[in-house]
Amino acid sequence: MTSKLVDTWLTNSREEDNMFDDHYPLWQVMINRMSETSLEGKTVLDFGCNQGGFLQVLYQQKPFQKGIGIDVARQSIQIANDRKGNLPLVYEARDNLDSFQSAIDIAFSHEVLYLIRDLKRHSQEMYTCLQSKGTYYAALGCHADNPLWPTWKTMIEAESNLEVQNYSLNFIADTFRDAGFSVFAQKFMLNDFILMKESNVYFPNVLDSLNYYWDYKILWKFVKP
Ligand SMILES: C[S@@+](CC[C@H](N)C(=O)[O-])C[C@H]1O[C@@H](n2cnc3c(N)ncnc32)[C@H](O)[C@@H]1O
Repeated sequence: MTSKLVDTWLTNSREEDNMFDDHYPLWQVMINRMSETSLEGKTVLDFGCNQGGFLQVLYQQKPFQKGIGIDVARQSIQIANDRKGNLPLVYEARDNLDSFQSAIDIAFSHEVLYLIRDLKRHSQEMYTCLQSKGTYYAALGCHADNPLWPTWKTMIEAESNLEVQNYSLNFIADTFRDAGFSVFAQKFMLNDFILMKESNVYFPNVLDSLNYYWDYKILWKFVKP
């Protein structure tokens, strides 16, 4: 896993400020697809929470007892804490799950696995911090089986303060299975209108966008038996 904290994960931190609008519809898919209809009395974790938006959106729709967001980016965590108001949320700058043994009921990460250097350690730490029957939902489009990824990886490497990994879907499935999880996956299938921005390096063609959010972005569900 990354072993150090950074101020921001992107070299141009202003781009992080736009992530709420870009990621909101994607967080919504995760919330709609999760098996749990209620999070009452539960402790939830958002690993790689950035400025903390996901837990705030989740709480509005499925209130929980306590939400913990962790991220290696100090400035993002500061913003998350400034914005949390009276919600039962704790945001911490850190890169590990050391103190959470069996304390978490449900964990999430959205587009974080590709930035974690030691995925084996991450899967083991997540296994330890989840309660029995606990579930980790992880969304990921930045992986080696996405045909757009070779271009994206080069672009992200130029913008990131963190090392970018190149994990295949099989490697991810094997890693979490080896850690003891039952591994489930589904295509993200974003079933809504997608804003078509001008042709750019990330999405040269309209179909690139449509295919990515339907076919190549994956929602993992790792269940601790
Ligand atoms: C692409 S951003 C996604 C942020 C957020 N999950 C969202 O959906 O908007 C990836 C985030 O993961 C964080 N991150 C990367 N590696 C991490 C690690 N080992 N531990 C904690 N956070 C990490 C980065 O700092 C960054 O905020």
